Amino acid sequence: MDKLIAGQVVTYHGDPFDIPAEEAVQVLSDAAILVRDGKVISLGGRDHMRAKHPDAEVFDHGPALIVPGFIDAHAHYPQTAMIASWGKRLIDWLNTYTFPEEAKFADRGYADDIAGRYLDLLLANGTTTVTSFCTVHPGSVDALFEAAARRNMRIVAGKTCMDRWETTPEFLRDTPQSAYDDSKALIERWHNKGRATYAITPRFSPTSTPEQLYALGRLWDEHPSCLMQTHLSEQTDEIDWVKGLYPEARDYLDTYEQFGLVREGALFGHSIHLEPREIAHLRAMDCSLIHCPTSNTFIGSGLFDTGARKADGLRVGLATDTGGGSSFSMLRTMAAAYEIGQLRHNALHPAQLLWLATRGSAEALRMEDKIGAIAPGMEADFAVIDLASTPAIAQRAITANTIWEEIFPTIMMGDDRAVIASYVMGERAAV
Ligand code: GUN
Ligand code: ZN
Repeated sequence: MDKLIAGQVVTYHGDPFDIPAEEAVQVLSDAAILVRDGKVISLGGRDHMRAKHPDAEVFDHGPALIVPGFIDAHAHYPQTAMIASWGKRLIDWLNTYTFPEEAKFADRGYADDIAGRYLDLLLANGTTTVTSFCTVHPGSVDALFEAAARRNMRIVAGKTCMDRWETTPEFLRDTPQSAYDDSKALIERWHNKGRATYAITPRFSPTSTPEQLYALGRLWDEHPSCLMQTHLSEQTDEIDWVKGLYPEARDYLDTYEQFGLVREGALFGHSIHLEPREIAHLRAMDCSLIHCPTSNTFIGSGLFDTGARKADGLRVGLATDTGGGSSFSMLRTMAAAYEIGQLRHNALHPAQLLWLATRGSAEALRMEDKIGAIAPGMEADFAVIDLASTPAIAQRAITANTIWEEIFPTIMMGDDRAVIASYVMGERAAV
């Protein structure tokens, strides 16, 4: 049955980093979206669409803002239960909190519990697609893909590969061969099944041997339509560590490049402290950088330069990096991106922030033909946002003179209370 979903609808007409933000991103007040078989068919004025489609089921959200479902382009679902762990920078944080928690995913029941809890938290926050690391255990990957399939969510995930004895505790170690074999079996089971995409997932070069990175490069050659996700240049101590572990490499990116892991479809989380050569090569290979602002402040990593990397012509997605990031909310993540922009003397426009959390992430995942915008032919994944969800936000929004002045307090102060509904393929998710 056709559905009409009505409210104020956000639409895209260009990249707000290339053309004026308010031209690129427009808000159709009093609009409705016609949805059929999980896809957007058309958009138009609310009354006009109701008259034209009298048999459609109507979901009228009044003045609420309807945005494309948020796309969290880098997260670690196994870190759900240890988010907000105190007092450590990256390497100590991994050893103290992360690795012991990830060890629990040897138990498939635990993985199932956390995967379900995690995706429900995402839907409650308006996030309809995530790209997540799993743990070294193949069962942790099955758990997440199964939980996403039950909710019909578009998802990207992969088995985290880590085999270096000097840096990885034994209880989380695989080998070059088992990483290759397990990842290959998971690709065969999940890649392009329904809404699932497999991402080949070396955690980062410090926890892999060159032999493992070589094996994963070969696997990617054999399955080129997969994505590849990892971390790059998150903290300066980490970069020094990489130099010690890979003395022959020209720079951090080279540790991946040598093994065929730098090309289109590669997603590099963080990518804060890049050398000019790295930026030029990432651009030449059309790779994606994923900005994780709450993580970068929480773990003390540094200030990603969104404006500069967009001006370099790179694909930039936005992400929580749960649980290095301190929130499941892409609203909170946009606020942190704004704050980091301010520290770099670049006040990102609210239209740019919304775009990064939706279309920017979709471009980073090379899925912009399916998700990340509300337009005919796109999958009907939406978040419905109350622009007056708390007394503090409401009293600020009421003074607004423009729609962007009205939206900005929700970006800065909003959380899951602002999310009225999430729609997945046109179906309202239970949250
Ligand atoms: N680098 C390698 N692993 C991780 C991780 O789990 N979180 C973050 N933030 N950085 C990493
Ligand atoms: Zn990460």
